[in-house]
Amino acid sequence: MGKTGFSLILAMGLVTLSTSSEKKCILSGAWQNELGSNMTIFAVNKAGQFSGLYLTAVSAAKKPILVSPINGSQHIDSLEQPTFGFTVKWTFSDSTTVFVGQCFVDDHGEETLQTMWLLREKAKSAENNWNATMVGTNIFTRIKGQKVSESMRNDL
Ligand code: BTN
Repeated sequence: MGKTGFSLILAMGLVTLSTSSEKKCILSGAWQNELGSNMTIFAVNKAGQFSGLYLTAVSAAKKPILVSPINGSQHIDSLEQPTFGFTVKWTFSDSTTVFVGQCFVDDHGEETLQTMWLLREKAKSAENNWNATMVGTNIFTRIKGQKVSESMRNDL
């Protein structure tokens, strides 16, 4: 192989490397969804597990809203656009929400978390079980320039 061929392969390799590193979708950080809810995801460990804090903008409970803890995990074999799931155990109600989703990054490096959720309310009895679970979707975008919120952490 001539010098030109080698240089071409090297250049292609470098382009591939830089493209893949640009496309990594990182879950940790501050996010807001279309309802105005905020969440902060702390560092993701080597096993893909993470914790965080959620401040919902809306609630089905007739109680003052408080910051609530997140626990979840993501796939670490597919760092570019990983799937993930997390639970929010609401501190101000008897309900629990589970979110599942995928972290997408577009050609401009903009990240979104496309999620679906199940919100489970506490039913008074098994007879009332049938309407105790709501389902919906949320899209989260990154809140730029915001570090992991200390005030949210202190509120918990
Ligand atoms: C409750 O109502 O008991 C707890 C708050 C639930 C808030 C839900 S979870 C799904 C949806 N997405 C949000 O950001 N908030 C609502």
